[in-house]
Amino acid sequence: MPERKLSARYPTDLAAWRKLREHFREDMRKRTLRDLFMRDSSRFSRFSRQFGSLHIDLSKNLVSAKTLKLLLRLARETRVADATAAMFSGDRINRSENRSVLHVALRAEMSDQLALDVPGVPDVWGTLTAIEQFVSDVQGGRIVGINGQRLTEIVNIGIGGSDLGPVMASNALRHYWKPGMNFHSVSNIDGTQLVDLTERLNPEETLFVICSKTFTTLETMTNAEQAKQWITRQLGDEAVAHHFAAASTNHEAMDAFGINPAYRFGFWDWVGGRYSIWSAVGLSLALVIGMQAFRDFLAGARRMDLHFRDARPEENLPLLMGLVSVWYNNFFGAATQAVLPYDNRLDRFPAYLQQLHMESNGKGVREDGRPVKAKTGTIIWGEAGSNAQHSFYQLLHQGTRFVPVDFILPVKSSGCSQEQQDLAIANCLAQSEALMDGYAAKQAVLDLVARGMDERDAKTPAAQRMHPGNRPSTTILFERLTPAVLGQLIALYEHKVFVEGVIWGINSFDQFGVELGKKLATSLAGSVSTATGYEGGNDSTRYLLELVRMLRTNN
Ligand code: F6P
Repeated sequence: MPERKLSARYPTDLAAWRKLREHFREDMRKRTLRDLFMRDSSRFSRFSRQFGSLHIDLSKNLVSAKTLKLLLRLARETRVADATAAMFSGDRINRSENRSVLHVALRAEMSDQLALDVPGVPDVWGTLTAIEQFVSDVQGGRIVGINGQRLTEIVNIGIGGSDLGPVMASNALRHYWKPGMNFHSVSNIDGTQLVDLTERLNPEETLFVICSKTFTTLETMTNAEQAKQWITRQLGDEAVAHHFAAASTNHEAMDAFGINPAYRFGFWDWVGGRYSIWSAVGLSLALVIGMQAFRDFLAGARRMDLHFRDARPEENLPLLMGLVSVWYNNFFGAATQAVLPYDNRLDRFPAYLQQLHMESNGKGVREDGRPVKAKTGTIIWGEAGSNAQHSFYQLLHQGTRFVPVDFILPVKSSGCSQEQQDLAIANCLAQSEALMDGYAAKQAVLDLVARGMDERDAKTPAAQRMHPGNRPSTTILFERLTPAVLGQLIALYEHKVFVEGVIWGINSFDQFGVELGKKLATSLAGSVSTATGYEGGNDSTRYLLELVRMLRTNN
């Protein structure tokens, strides 16, 4: 298997980086968005792009033509195109785990001939057909519960990528749920989700889908065992084979759990957890939205993949978004980026993007083992649109932090009244304008005077009402949130994250940073419930453990 040659140089040592630094200091640090618009009457058309169903307005960003030129030069000097080609051809670009990175193969057509020489890739389409059959049999009532009832209550049990993808996408595509089908999820270790669910679900109609790449994850296996006990208590041991399906790369563990061989679906080590919604991990999603919609979802992502692989850099949406993100992160010093969808169905999208960005790029060591020299790993946060306005927009408008924003805006509502979506649109556009234009103190004085206040008295309240403006945002607009559009949107961000990782020289596809905590939790687990002493740790952990022991036995 050929290996991509890494650029041995730190991005910070590259000519493009130095020029960007100069350009930031000399041209852009004090530049205002208003000024950029005033100087260029065609700014909107020059800085907005369209591909597939997505219209992306980059014009409200603090970038000039020169900024883009230099950022594209940075992409060339960090060899983003080579890295992209290496990913698509199945090179083992996840070098620390010696794995290919081929979530793109999960949504490819066989005729794309994408990395067919990588073991597992030729099995993608057969697995999809098996999933299709299963989905059709469940929805058509040919696969039923142990007592013959239709399986309409689909409960995804997983965590991280094995939960966030199914949860986010099923929520986003709720409008596409087949009549009678319902989606539920269980992820957290504390068990409350399952308790709440089992209080209201009928076990005879319930199908648990256990999603776990490893099938060893503590949270998932604990919840799966609890679910198994609930099912067997109500319906007997035989019911496990009827009420559990699974998606995993660990076939032995699925066997050991008692998953019916016809109800289990595999995937491959080259699918990262946070990139797995396109694999059998999407089973619970497919069970509620149906296979046609699931295939449309894959096709949408494929469309973005081909665009990312083939489009000219100047037109390449994931590339441009990744570069603009690096610009803010490394030159403006923005630590965070907010993602604000104006569609409540996307309310888990920021959480999904959090894992995608932060588990992928939250790293301080480069692929070659040397420490990075620049800040990496944008902190992603957000919330559905107008809820967020009534919560944290205050900080976005008047706070002292610099927070670039991505607005996500469907024009048509999915099944609700257009009048309400029109209000959501008005709110979204108003916010991006307010962030950019602000509200000058002088204007605030005039407005207060017009309301009868003395000009001198108006100064302090005017200062408090002033919005500094010049706060950048990107708007991603599309007609309607369909499965294909959601596929495009997720793939857009996946490749954006990839671009950032390549520029920073880090491996976006491992996640060793989550291992230490897991290991410690395992060694602590015994000491919480029994009186055995905890050998490791420190005084704080030991005293907290004492306190826990004392309180947990209180009546
Ligand atoms: O938290 C780390 C992680 O490995 C994620 O990358 C992954 O999505 C999640 O745990 C779940 O892992 P699994 O699918 O193996 O249960």
